[in-house]
Amino acid sequence: MKNFTQDNVTEAILDRISSSKDPRFREVMTSLVTHLHAFARDVDLREGEWFEGIKFLTETGQKCDDVRQEFILLSDTLGLSMLVVGLNHPKPTGATEPTVFGQFFRDGAPDIKNGDSIVRGDGGKGEVTLMRGRVTGPDGKPIAGALLDIWQTAPNGLYETQDENQADYNFRGRLRSDKDGYYAFVTMKPVSYSIPTDGPVGRMLKAMNRHSMRPAHVHFVVSHPGFEPVTTHVFASGDEYLDSDAVFGVRSSLVADFKPCSDEALAKKYGLKTPFLLAEYDFGLALSQKQRAAE
Ligand code: BEZ
Ligand code: FE
Repeated sequence: MKNFTQDNVTEAILDRISSSKDPRFREVMTSLVTHLHAFARDVDLREGEWFEGIKFLTETGQKCDDVRQEFILLSDTLGLSMLVVGLNHPKPTGATEPTVFGQFFRDGAPDIKNGDSIVRGDGGKGEVTLMRGRVTGPDGKPIAGALLDIWQTAPNGLYETQDENQADYNFRGRLRSDKDGYYAFVTMKPVSYSIPTDGPVGRMLKAMNRHSMRPAHVHFVVSHPGFEPVTTHVFASGDEYLDSDAVFGVRSSLVADFKPCSDEALAKKYGLKTPFLLAEYDFGLALSQKQRAAE
Protein backbone atom coordinates (compact mmCIF):
# COMPACT_ATOMS: atom_id res chain seq x y z
CA MET A 1 0.00 0.00 0.00
CA LYS A 2 1.26 3.45 -0.94
CA ASN A 3 1.22 6.40 1.45
CA PHE A 4 0.36 9.61 -0.36
CA THR A 5 2.06 12.57 1.25
CA GLN A 6 2.82 16.15 0.32
CA ASP A 7 6.16 14.86 -0.88
CA ASN A 8 4.87 12.35 -3.42
CA VAL A 9 1.31 13.39 -4.35
CA THR A 10 2.46 15.58 -7.25
CA GLU A 11 4.43 12.73 -8.77
CA ALA A 12 1.46 10.39 -8.22
CA ILE A 13 -1.09 12.57 -10.02
CA LEU A 14 1.33 13.31 -12.88
CA ASP A 15 1.86 9.57 -13.23
CA ARG A 16 -1.90 9.02 -13.57
CA ILE A 17 -2.26 11.80 -16.15
CA SER A 18 0.50 10.22 -18.21
CA SER A 19 -1.82 7.57 -19.62
CA SER A 20 -4.25 10.16 -21.11
CA LYS A 21 -5.03 9.25 -24.71
CA ASP A 22 -4.97 12.75 -26.17
CA PRO A 23 -1.33 14.02 -26.18
CA ARG A 24 -2.28 17.74 -26.07
CA PHE A 25 -4.69 17.11 -23.17
CA ARG A 26 -1.86 15.24 -21.39
CA GLU A 27 0.54 18.13 -21.99
CA VAL A 28 -1.88 20.82 -20.81
CA MET A 29 -3.05 18.90 -17.70
CA THR A 30 0.49 17.92 -16.72
CA SER A 31 1.56 21.56 -16.81
CA LEU A 32 -1.59 22.78 -15.07
CA VAL A 33 -1.24 20.32 -12.17
CA THR A 34 2.50 20.96 -11.88
CA HIS A 35 1.90 24.73 -11.58
CA LEU A 36 -1.10 24.36 -9.27
CA HIS A 37 0.86 22.20 -6.85
CA ALA A 38 3.85 24.56 -7.07
CA PHE A 39 1.52 27.48 -6.28
CA ALA A 40 0.11 25.74 -3.20
CA ARG A 41 3.63 24.98 -1.97
CA ASP A 42 4.89 28.46 -2.81
CA VAL A 43 2.29 30.23 -0.66
CA ASP A 44 2.03 27.39 1.89
CA LEU A 45 -1.72 27.35 1.20
CA ARG A 46 -3.88 27.22 4.34
CA GLU A 47 -7.05 25.07 4.29
CA GLY A 48 -9.25 28.07 5.07
CA GLU A 49 -7.69 30.02 2.21
CA TRP A 50 -8.29 27.22 -0.28
CA PHE A 51 -11.89 26.95 0.92
CA GLU A 52 -12.27 30.70 0.26
CA GLY A 53 -10.79 30.13 -3.20
CA ILE A 54 -13.31 27.38 -3.94
CA LYS A 55 -16.13 29.61 -2.70
CA PHE A 56 -14.89 32.39 -5.01
CA LEU A 57 -14.80 30.08 -8.04
CA THR A 58 -18.23 28.70 -7.16
CA GLU A 59 -19.69 32.21 -7.00
CA THR A 60 -17.96 33.07 -10.27
CA GLY A 61 -19.80 30.20 -11.95
CA GLN A 62 -23.08 31.04 -10.23
CA LYS A 63 -22.88 34.63 -11.48
CA CYS A 64 -22.88 33.48 -15.13
CA ASP A 65 -26.02 33.54 -17.25
CA ASP A 66 -26.80 34.23 -20.91
CA VAL A 67 -25.71 37.89 -20.71
CA ARG A 68 -23.12 37.73 -17.92
CA GLN A 69 -19.88 35.74 -18.10
CA GLU A 70 -18.00 36.16 -14.85
CA PHE A 71 -15.28 33.67 -15.86
CA ILE A 72 -14.41 35.80 -18.93
CA LEU A 73 -14.29 38.80 -16.61
CA LEU A 74 -11.94 36.90 -14.29
CA SER A 75 -9.68 35.87 -17.17
CA ASP A 76 -9.72 39.46 -18.52
CA THR A 77 -8.96 41.15 -15.21
CA LEU A 78 -6.12 38.73 -14.46
CA GLY A 79 -4.52 39.60 -17.82
CA LEU A 80 -4.91 36.00 -19.01
CA SER A 81 -7.19 36.90 -21.94
CA MET A 82 -4.65 39.35 -23.37
CA LEU A 83 -1.86 36.82 -22.83
CA VAL A 84 -3.81 34.19 -24.80
CA VAL A 85 -4.67 36.76 -27.53
CA GLY A 86 -0.95 37.56 -27.86
CA LEU A 87 0.10 33.89 -27.93
CA ASN A 88 -2.47 33.08 -30.61
CA HIS A 89 -1.98 36.07 -32.88
CA PRO A 90 1.64 37.05 -33.35
CA LYS A 91 1.09 40.18 -35.40
CA PRO A 92 1.72 39.81 -39.15
CA THR A 93 3.01 43.07 -40.67
CA GLY A 94 0.30 45.49 -41.63
CA ALA A 95 -2.50 43.62 -39.91
CA THR A 96 -4.66 45.28 -37.26
CA GLU A 97 -3.76 44.10 -33.77
CA PRO A 98 -6.36 42.04 -31.92
CA THR A 99 -7.56 42.62 -28.39
CA VAL A 100 -9.99 41.04 -25.92
CA PHE A 101 -13.41 39.88 -27.09
CA GLY A 102 -15.09 40.94 -23.85
CA GLN A 103 -18.45 39.60 -22.85
CA PHE A 104 -20.99 41.89 -24.49
CA PHE A 105 -20.95 40.65 -28.07
CA ARG A 106 -24.38 39.63 -29.34
CA ASP A 107 -24.89 37.44 -32.35
CA GLY A 108 -27.33 38.53 -35.04
CA ALA A 109 -26.80 42.31 -34.98
CA PRO A 110 -28.90 43.99 -37.68
CA ASP A 111 -27.33 44.41 -41.11
CA ILE A 112 -27.04 48.08 -41.96
CA LYS A 113 -26.08 49.81 -45.19
CA ASN A 114 -22.61 51.27 -45.40
CA GLY A 115 -22.99 54.81 -44.01
CA ASP A 116 -26.05 54.12 -41.85
CA SER A 117 -26.34 54.58 -38.10
CA ILE A 118 -25.98 51.91 -35.41
CA VAL A 119 -28.08 53.99 -33.03
CA ARG A 120 -31.58 52.58 -32.62
CA GLY A 121 -34.17 54.84 -31.14
CA ASP A 122 -32.98 57.45 -28.70
CA GLY A 123 -29.18 57.31 -28.59
CA GLY A 124 -29.04 59.23 -25.33
CA LYS A 125 -26.95 62.31 -24.67
CA GLY A 126 -23.81 61.70 -26.66
CA GLU A 127 -21.58 63.28 -29.26
CA VAL A 128 -22.67 62.33 -32.79
CA THR A 129 -19.78 60.65 -34.56
CA LEU A 130 -19.04 59.52 -38.09
CA MET A 131 -16.64 56.63 -38.05
CA ARG A 132 -15.03 55.63 -41.32
CA GLY A 133 -11.99 54.03 -42.88
CA ARG A 134 -10.80 51.32 -45.19
CA VAL A 135 -10.21 47.58 -44.97
CA THR A 136 -7.13 46.35 -46.78
CA GLY A 137 -5.15 43.13 -47.18
CA PRO A 138 -1.44 42.60 -46.49
CA ASP A 139 -0.56 43.96 -49.95
CA GLY A 140 -2.43 47.19 -49.14
CA LYS A 141 -5.13 46.35 -51.67
CA PRO A 142 -8.70 47.15 -50.61
CA ILE A 143 -10.92 44.30 -49.46
CA ALA A 144 -14.40 44.75 -50.89
CA GLY A 145 -17.31 43.20 -48.99
CA ALA A 146 -15.42 42.73 -45.70
CA LEU A 147 -17.90 42.20 -42.85
CA LEU A 148 -17.61 44.57 -39.89
CA ASP A 149 -19.55 43.44 -36.81
CA ILE A 150 -19.69 46.47 -34.50
CA TRP A 151 -20.80 46.99 -30.89
CA GLN A 152 -20.30 49.60 -28.18
CA THR A 153 -22.03 51.05 -25.14
CA ALA A 154 -24.56 53.87 -25.25
CA PRO A 155 -23.36 57.25 -23.95
CA ASN A 156 -24.53 56.16 -20.47
CA GLY A 157 -21.73 53.55 -20.43
CA LEU A 158 -24.07 50.55 -20.63
CA TYR A 159 -24.40 47.93 -23.32
CA GLU A 160 -27.95 47.44 -24.53
CA THR A 161 -28.03 44.02 -22.83
CA GLN A 162 -27.33 45.70 -19.46
CA ASP A 163 -29.98 48.37 -19.80
CA GLU A 164 -33.70 47.71 -20.18
CA ASN A 165 -34.28 51.30 -21.31
CA GLN A 166 -32.33 50.81 -24.52
CA ALA A 167 -33.79 49.49 -27.77
CA ASP A 168 -32.96 45.95 -28.81
CA TYR A 169 -29.54 45.86 -30.57
CA ASN A 170 -28.93 49.55 -29.81
CA PHE A 171 -25.34 50.47 -30.75
CA ARG A 172 -24.85 47.22 -32.65
CA GLY A 173 -24.69 46.64 -36.38
CA ARG A 174 -23.09 44.70 -39.18
CA LEU A 175 -22.02 46.30 -42.43
CA ARG A 176 -19.86 45.50 -45.42
CA SER A 177 -17.03 47.54 -46.91
CA ASP A 178 -17.74 48.92 -50.40
CA LYS A 179 -16.01 47.95 -53.64
CA ASP A 180 -12.96 50.07 -52.70
CA GLY A 181 -12.78 48.67 -49.17
CA TYR A 182 -14.31 51.75 -47.51
CA TYR A 183 -16.72 51.57 -44.58
CA ALA A 184 -18.59 54.27 -42.68
CA PHE A 185 -21.24 54.37 -39.99
CA VAL A 186 -22.83 56.88 -37.69
CA THR A 187 -22.72 56.45 -33.93
CA MET A 188 -22.11 58.38 -30.71
CA LYS A 189 -18.64 58.87 -29.29
CA PRO A 190 -17.90 55.92 -27.00
CA VAL A 191 -17.35 56.67 -23.31
CA SER A 192 -15.20 55.05 -20.65
CA TYR A 193 -17.24 52.68 -18.49
CA SER A 194 -16.92 50.25 -15.61
CA ILE A 195 -16.92 46.52 -16.17
CA PRO A 196 -19.52 44.85 -13.91
CA THR A 197 -18.42 44.95 -10.26
CA ASP A 198 -21.46 43.42 -8.54
CA GLY A 199 -19.91 39.93 -8.47
CA PRO A 200 -16.86 38.11 -7.12
CA VAL A 201 -14.54 39.73 -9.70
CA GLY A 202 -15.62 43.17 -8.45
CA ARG A 203 -14.72 42.08 -4.88
CA MET A 204 -11.37 40.80 -6.13
CA LEU A 205 -10.58 44.13 -7.84
CA LYS A 206 -11.44 45.99 -4.64
CA ALA A 207 -9.20 43.71 -2.58
CA MET A 208 -6.40 44.39 -5.07
CA ASN A 209 -7.01 48.14 -4.78
CA ARG A 210 -7.71 48.32 -8.53
CA HIS A 211 -10.29 50.32 -10.48
CA SER A 212 -12.77 48.66 -12.84
CA MET A 213 -12.75 51.15 -15.73
CA ARG A 214 -12.22 50.55 -19.42
CA PRO A 215 -11.20 53.41 -21.71
CA ALA A 216 -13.78 54.45 -24.33
CA HIS A 217 -13.83 52.06 -27.30
CA VAL A 218 -15.84 50.61 -30.15
CA HIS A 219 -15.67 46.83 -30.67
CA PHE A 220 -15.13 45.30 -34.11
CA VAL A 221 -14.84 41.86 -35.61
CA VAL A 222 -13.64 42.35 -39.18
CA SER A 223 -13.71 39.35 -41.48
CA HIS A 224 -13.63 38.19 -45.08
CA PRO A 225 -13.14 34.73 -46.60
CA GLY A 226 -9.46 34.08 -47.30
CA PHE A 227 -8.31 36.36 -44.43
CA GLU A 228 -7.78 35.93 -40.68
CA PRO A 229 -10.70 37.60 -38.93
CA VAL A 230 -9.63 40.19 -36.36
CA THR A 231 -11.39 40.82 -33.04
CA THR A 232 -10.40 44.25 -31.88
CA HIS A 233 -11.40 47.69 -30.56
CA VAL A 234 -10.81 51.26 -31.65
CA PHE A 235 -10.06 53.37 -28.57
CA ALA A 236 -10.70 57.11 -28.26
CA SER A 237 -7.49 59.11 -27.88
CA GLY A 238 -7.19 61.26 -24.77
CA ASP A 239 -9.20 58.89 -22.58
CA GLU A 240 -8.04 58.99 -18.96
CA TYR A 241 -8.02 55.18 -18.66
CA LEU A 242 -5.88 54.34 -21.71
CA ASP A 243 -2.91 53.60 -19.44
CA SER A 244 -4.81 51.60 -16.85
CA ASP A 245 -7.50 49.57 -18.69
CA ALA A 246 -8.96 47.11 -16.15
CA VAL A 247 -8.58 44.28 -18.69
CA PHE A 248 -5.22 45.27 -20.27
CA GLY A 249 -6.75 45.50 -23.77
CA VAL A 250 -5.15 48.74 -25.00
CA ARG A 251 -2.58 48.80 -27.79
CA SER A 252 -1.30 52.11 -29.11
CA SER A 253 -2.01 51.07 -32.72
CA LEU A 254 -5.72 50.88 -31.87
CA VAL A 255 -6.13 54.47 -30.66
CA ALA A 256 -7.90 56.98 -32.94
CA ASP A 257 -8.77 60.67 -32.67
CA PHE A 258 -12.42 61.72 -32.53
CA LYS A 259 -12.08 65.19 -34.06
CA PRO A 260 -14.71 67.91 -34.50
CA CYS A 261 -15.65 68.23 -38.18
CA SER A 262 -17.64 70.96 -39.91
CA ASP A 263 -17.56 69.59 -43.45
CA GLU A 264 -21.04 70.37 -44.80
CA ALA A 265 -20.77 67.97 -47.76
CA LEU A 266 -19.89 65.10 -45.42
CA ALA A 267 -22.66 66.10 -43.02
CA LYS A 268 -25.19 66.09 -45.87
CA LYS A 269 -24.00 62.73 -47.19
CA TYR A 270 -24.59 61.07 -43.82
CA GLY A 271 -27.60 63.13 -42.70
CA LEU A 272 -25.70 64.89 -39.88
CA LYS A 273 -25.63 68.39 -38.46
CA THR A 274 -22.31 70.20 -38.23
CA PRO A 275 -20.22 70.10 -36.19
CA PHE A 276 -19.98 66.36 -35.57
CA LEU A 277 -17.06 64.16 -34.58
CA LEU A 278 -15.07 62.30 -37.20
CA ALA A 279 -13.07 59.20 -36.28
CA GLU A 280 -11.01 57.55 -38.99
CA TYR A 281 -9.51 54.10 -38.66
CA ASP A 282 -8.19 51.68 -41.29
CA PHE A 283 -8.21 47.92 -40.71
CA GLY A 284 -5.61 45.55 -42.14
CA LEU A 285 -6.36 41.84 -42.47
CA ALA A 286 -3.74 39.10 -42.74
CA LEU A 287 -4.18 36.21 -45.15
CA SER A 288 -5.72 33.12 -43.59
CA GLN A 289 -3.34 30.26 -42.85
CA LYS A 290 -4.92 28.24 -45.63
CA GLN A 291 -4.47 31.10 -48.08
CA ARG A 292 -0.86 31.58 -46.97
CA ALA A 293 -0.12 27.90 -47.46
CA ALA A 294 -1.61 28.06 -50.94
CA GLU A 295 0.55 31.04 -52.03
C1 BEZ B 1 -15.90 44.94 -23.04
O1 BEZ B 1 -17.03 44.89 -23.50
O2 BEZ B 1 -15.12 45.76 -23.49
C2 BEZ B 1 -15.46 44.06 -21.92
C3 BEZ B 1 -16.34 43.79 -20.91
C4 BEZ B 1 -15.96 42.98 -19.87
C5 BEZ B 1 -14.68 42.46 -19.86
C6 BEZ B 1 -13.81 42.75 -20.88
C7 BEZ B 1 -14.19 43.56 -21.92
FE1 FE C 1 -16.52 47.11 -24.36
